[in-house]
Amino acid sequence: MHPLPCLGALVGSLLNFVAAQSTFSPARPPSLPLAVKSPYLSTWFPAGSNGGNGGYLPGQWPSFYTGQITGWTGLIRVDGNTFTWMGAPRDIDTANQTTFEYTSTRSIFTIEVDDKVSLKATFLSPLTPTDLKRQSLIFSYLHVEVSSLDGSDHDVQLYSDISAEWVSGDLGAVAQWEFETTGDVQYHRVWKQNQQMFSEVRDRAEWGNIYYATDAMEGLTHQSGADSDVRGRFATSGTLDNSADEDYRAISSDWPVFGYAVDLGSVVSGATTSNLFTIGLCQEEAIQFLGKDGLSTLPSFWKSYFDDDLAALSFFHKDYSESSRLSLELDEKIAADSVNAAGEDYLTLTSLAARQAFGATQLVGTEDKHFLFLKEISSNGNTQTVDVIYPASPIFYYLNPELVRLMLDPHFENQESGHYPNKFAIHDLGTHYPNATGHPDGNDEHMPLEECGNNIIMVLTYAQRSGNTEYLKQHYPILRQWADYLALDSLYPAEQLSTDDFAGHLANQTNLAIKGIIGLEAMSLISRLVGEDADAQNFTDIAHEYMDKWMELGINHNDEPPHSILNYNNWTTHGLLYNLYNDRLLSTNLVPQSVYDQQSQFYPTIAQPYGVPLDTRQSYTKSDWEVFCAAIASDETRDMFVSALARWVNETPSSRPFTDLYEPRTGMQPGIDFKARPVMGGMFALLALPE
Ligand SMILES: *[C@@H]1O[C@H](CO)[C@@H](O)[C@H](O)[C@H]1NC(C)=O
Ligand SMILES: *[C@@H]1O[C@H](CO)[C@@H](O)[C@H](O)[C@H]1NC(C)=O
Ligand SMILES: *[C@@H]1O[C@H](CO)[C@@H](O)[C@H](O)[C@H]1NC(C)=O
Ligand SMILES: *[C@@H]1O[C@H](CO)[C@@H](O)[C@H](O)[C@H]1NC(C)=O
Ligand SMILES: *[C@@H]1O[C@H](CO)[C@@H](O)[C@H](O)[C@H]1NC(C)=O
Repeated sequence: MHPLPCLGALVGSLLNFVAAQSTFSPARPPSLPLAVKSPYLSTWFPAGSNGGNGGYLPGQWPSFYTGQITGWTGLIRVDGNTFTWMGAPRDIDTANQTTFEYTSTRSIFTIEVDDKVSLKATFLSPLTPTDLKRQSLIFSYLHVEVSSLDGSDHDVQLYSDISAEWVSGDLGAVAQWEFETTGDVQYHRVWKQNQQMFSEVRDRAEWGNIYYATDAMEGLTHQSGADSDVRGRFATSGTLDNSADEDYRAISSDWPVFGYAVDLGSVVSGATTSNLFTIGLCQEEAIQFLGKDGLSTLPSFWKSYFDDDLAALSFFHKDYSESSRLSLELDEKIAADSVNAAGEDYLTLTSLAARQAFGATQLVGTEDKHFLFLKEISSNGNTQTVDVIYPASPIFYYLNPELVRLMLDPHFENQESGHYPNKFAIHDLGTHYPNATGHPDGNDEHMPLEECGNNIIMVLTYAQRSGNTEYLKQHYPILRQWADYLALDSLYPAEQLSTDDFAGHLANQTNLAIKGIIGLEAMSLISRLVGEDADAQNFTDIAHEYMDKWMELGINHNDEPPHSILNYNNWTTHGLLYNLYNDRLLSTNLVPQSVYDQQSQFYPTIAQPYGVPLDTRQSYTKSDWEVFCAAIASDETRDMFVSALARWVNETPSSRPFTDLYEPRTGMQPGIDFKARPVMGGMFALLALPE
C-alpha cells in the first residue's frame, strides 16, 4: 500500500518546483556551452531532460562533450551559510537559478542565494576570428559577480575548484599538481603524470597542462586535496588552509580537487564585487602532420607569441577587459546580422553554433606556416575531414575567409607532395585527431565526388571573398585534376557515399550530381580567373550540358509541386537538395530559378513539427543541410525551416551538445550519436551568401 502523502509534503514539493524556475533566453538548448574552445577544452552543461537537469547550474556536474564529468564547483558562503552555485558537491544546499542567457561567446547564469545576494556567473569563451594571437589561446573565462539582493550588507566568501577529471579520459590515471604564482596571477597546474603525446582516451587529450588561475590578492586562500576535505573546509570556515596534498594519485582516488576561496568581505547594498577565473589547456606540441618534408610535429600556434605556458596564461588572464570587449563586438555583429537575415529564431541558432564550430578547431604551426586544424568530433574523430569543413565553412567565410584557407592548406600540401595515390580528393588527413598523417595507402573513406566538389567550391568561395587569385594559380594543377574527376562522374554518379555516409551507398544521387555540376561551373570560373581560357570554356560547356540533362533526370515533373528526387529513376523519392546552395554561394547562376521555386513550394508539403526529413530512406534529418536549404528558399519556406529548428533547440529532450542529426517528427536523437560537431558552422549559411 502506498501511504497517502500528507499535505505538507505536497506543498513542499510544489514549492521546490516553483523554486526551480529559471528563464532561458533566447532558448534552453540541449546542452549549455561553458568552456568551449578547442577539441580538448570542451566543457558543457547537459540541460535536456534526457540526461540533463533542465539547465540549472547548481545541482549537476558539467561535462566534456562526450558526457564524461569535468568536475567544476562553485560555492558561496553568505553570513556563515554555504550554498552551491555550480556542480553537485555532496551535502551542500543548492542556490536558486533565476535566469540563463546565451550569446555567441557567453553563457550567463543568475543565481539567488538565500534571498540575500545575487550571483552572476559569466562563462566567456572568446572568439577572435581575425586576431589569431588571441584565437590561438586555449583558455576560457569564468567571471563571477555578487551583489546584495535584499538591500542589506552581507558577509560573503566565494569558492571554486576543478577536479583532476580535467586531465585524462581515464579515471584510473595518476594526476599530479602544483600551486604557484606568476606575477600577480596564482594558478593550480594539473597534469597527467604519464604524458602521452598525441594520444587520446575517450576523446580526451592525454598530454598537456590544465590551468585554473585567478588574481593573487589579499583574502585569497587555496588548497589541494580530497574533494570533501577541501569543500568541507570552505563550508565550515569560509577559507582554505593554503595546504598542498602531495599524495599524487588516481583521478578517482579520493577525488583530488584544486580550490580557491576568496573573501569578498562585506557585500554592501548597491555595489557589485567580482572575481575572475581562467581555465585552460596548454600543449606545446599539438599535431602530427605528413607534409612536404615528411612527417613532422606542429606546435600550438600560441607558441609563436608566447615563450611558455605561463606567459600565455598571464596574458590571457590579464586580457579579460579587452577580450571581453572584442567578444561583445562579435556578439553584437552576429546578433544584428542574424536578426536582419531571418529574425530572432535565426539568432537562436547562430549564437548557439558559434562556440561549437570554433571549438572543434585549433590553430597550430609557426608564424611562417600555420594551419587551422579541425576534429570531426563525435562521428569518428577523423582529422581535417573535407566534408566536415565544407558544412562548417559558412561561419568562417562570414567571420574570416582566411580561416578556410588555413584549413585547406594542409590538404594541398599533403596531396601535392604525393602522399595520396588516388586521382580524386582525399576524405580526411588522418584517421584520428590529432594525427594528420594522411593516407599514403589511399584507403581513406572514399567520397570522391563529394570531396572533389567540396574542394573546388571552397577554394573558389575563398578566392571570391578574399580576392586571392594567386592561391588559385598555386593549386591549379590539382584543382584541374579534381575537375576532370567531376567531368567523369557528375552526370551519372557511380554508386558511392555522400557526406551523409550513415545513410549508405547509392548510385545516381541527384544532390551529389548537382554538387559536381556546379563544381564544374566553379572550375570554369577558376580557370577564367587564372587566365586558362580554353579550360574555362570547356568546363562551362560541360557544366551546361550536364545541367540540361540533370533537369530531366533529377526532377519529378509529374508531382505537384514538382521536386528533386533522391536518385535517378526512383520517382517516389525526395530529399533535401542542399547542394543547390553552392549555385548561390558562388554566384554561378547555373541552375534555373524554377528549381529554387519548386523546392521552396515542395518542402512545406513534407514538413514535420521540428523540420523536414533528409530524404526518403530514413525519418531523421540534418540541421546543417536544412539551413543550407533555408538560405536559398523563399522567405516563407526559409522561416519555416528556421523556426522549426529553433523550436527543436528549445524543446528537444536531448542533452547532448547541439546535434546535426535528429528526428523532425519527435525531436529525439536517433541512435547515431552526433553531437558538438563543427558542421553547425553551417547555421551561418544565410550570412555567408554574397550581398
Ligand atoms: C530557493 O527558493 C526556495 C523557494 O523560494 C527557498 O525556500 C529556498 O530557501 C531558496 N534557496 C536558496 C539557497 O536561496
Ligand atoms: C597518434 O599517433 C601516435 C603514434 O605516432 C599514437 O601513439 C597515438 O595513439 C595516435 N593518436 C590517436 C588519437 O589515435
Ligand atoms: C574538356 O574536359 C574534359 C574533362 O576533363 C576532357 O576530357 C577534355 O579533353 C577537355 N577538352 C578540351 C578541348 O580541353
Ligand atoms: C544511373 O542512371 C542512368 C540514367 O537513368 C542509368 O542508365 C544507369 O543505369 C543508372 N546507374 C545505376 C548504377 O543505377
Ligand atoms: C529508391 O529510394 C529508396 C528510398 O526512398 C531506397 O531505399 C532504394 O534503395 C532506392 N531504389 C533504387 C533502385 O535505387
